[in-house]
Amino acid sequence: MEQYIMKGGNPLVGEVTVSGAKNAALGILAASIMTDEDVLIENLPDVRDINVLLEAIEEIGASVKRLDRHTVQINAAKIHAVSVDDEYIRRIRASYYFIGALLGKYKSAQVPLPGGCNIGSRPIDQHLKGFRALGARVEVSGGAVVAHAIDLVGSHIYLDMVSVGATINIMMAATLAEGETIIENPAKEPHVVDVANFLNSMGANIKGAGTDVIRIRGVKHLHGTEYSIIPDQIEAGTFMCAAAITRGDVMVQNVIPKHLEAISAKLIEMGCEVTEFDEAVRVVGRPKHWHTDIKTLPYPGFPTDMQPQMTVTLALAEGTSVVTESIFENRFKYVDELSRMGGRVKVEGNTAIITGVKQLTGAQVNAPDLRAGAALVIAGLAAEGYTVVDEIGYIQRGYENFEKKLQGLGAMIEKVDSEKEAQKFKLKVG
Ligand code: EPZ
Repeated sequence: MEQYIMKGGNPLVGEVTVSGAKNAALGILAASIMTDEDVLIENLPDVRDINVLLEAIEEIGASVKRLDRHTVQINAAKIHAVSVDDEYIRRIRASYYFIGALLGKYKSAQVPLPGGCNIGSRPIDQHLKGFRALGARVEVSGGAVVAHAIDLVGSHIYLDMVSVGATINIMMAATLAEGETIIENPAKEPHVVDVANFLNSMGANIKGAGTDVIRIRGVKHLHGTEYSIIPDQIEAGTFMCAAAITRGDVMVQNVIPKHLEAISAKLIEMGCEVTEFDEAVRVVGRPKHWHTDIKTLPYPGFPTDMQPQMTVTLALAEGTSVVTESIFENRFKYVDELSRMGGRVKVEGNTAIITGVKQLTGAQVNAPDLRAGAALVIAGLAAEGYTVVDEIGYIQRGYENFEKKLQGLGAMIEKVDSEKEAQKFKLKVG
């Protein structure tokens, strides 16, 4: 089984280029089946979740041509099934985007209930409420969501909680509904805006994505487009934390600094130097960092997807920090692993109290989910001695070439799949 092995202790220095945003790409790929014309998507991240979604798109009859590692051409004219049932698709959360896309285009969809990272109970009631408001009959039967409509008709939908998935899913279905849909209390994340921009480039009429109200005027059909996905805010933030925790100096390239403001602000409070450029951000860690408090919130608040990376960074800051997770209830599972590396973190309910320590020490740890896995890797890069991270399949779901990008910054890390390879790594790095 593949593992990451690393020897920590040296500052990361240099430049790293961020890939396209996974969570934008998942919505955009699903939305690309809503036209019968060719869609060309650029800056696609080459990560597992994306590749699984592409397989599922092919499975239902669309043509998927990978023009290069980061560019794909999709043509959905020959879709033969509105029922997605691929053994992998059950494991990725974003499979729920097929409901909105298929329901919008064919007025019918059957999609298994989503799996995904185990970060807490993740209902999709708001998605279903939205589809019903548009006039669809929606049932959950045999582990799948089954939705049908004679006609979809625009509606006024108030989301009870801010949900990225529900906002994108309702936006997709409403794009091909009759009349106007208004979504109140929508998610404002950069990837929501990117999916709206993508749909608009196909002829949709969506206004207000990124604000408190989204208005969608339904159109009869969508046409082909060429579109480049925005950079991944969370991958960028992960490298920013990697620079901070290793007391390094990293220029993170291909970013939209505005999307990183909540992360930059916290790193600055801790004493790091953060400089914004047009399409890059430079983070310089300091020998001593200070504690700070963080509460995860929907955008533009501090992203839940950066909570583990920031918590491990605070584990090596002076003083006591309090991190409150307000989006997912089960997102502190990595804390026990961090404790095994010498971190002092106590979890009470949805709050982690972190008492900074001077040094972390290497250990064998398990990645419990995608972002927590990445956080344990950056903790390992700052720790004394060797760290082995197991279950790295989670990390590969969302980070392209993670170990190679880190190696480019001088990290001593390798992906290995046997004890022999791990020993070889140890001999190499000494
Ligand atoms: C998206 O998940 C992301 N996934 C997650 O990224 C991210 O953590 C999350 O948004 C929050 O930013 C994708 O984009 C594929 P939500 P999503 O609906 O859409 C509750 C990563 O690491 N809720 O915004 O599933 C829900 O339980 C990941 O890349 C309902 O109660 O999240 C949660 O508490 C993991 N009912 C909150 O809302 C609903 O119908 C926000 O969830 C929908 C959501």
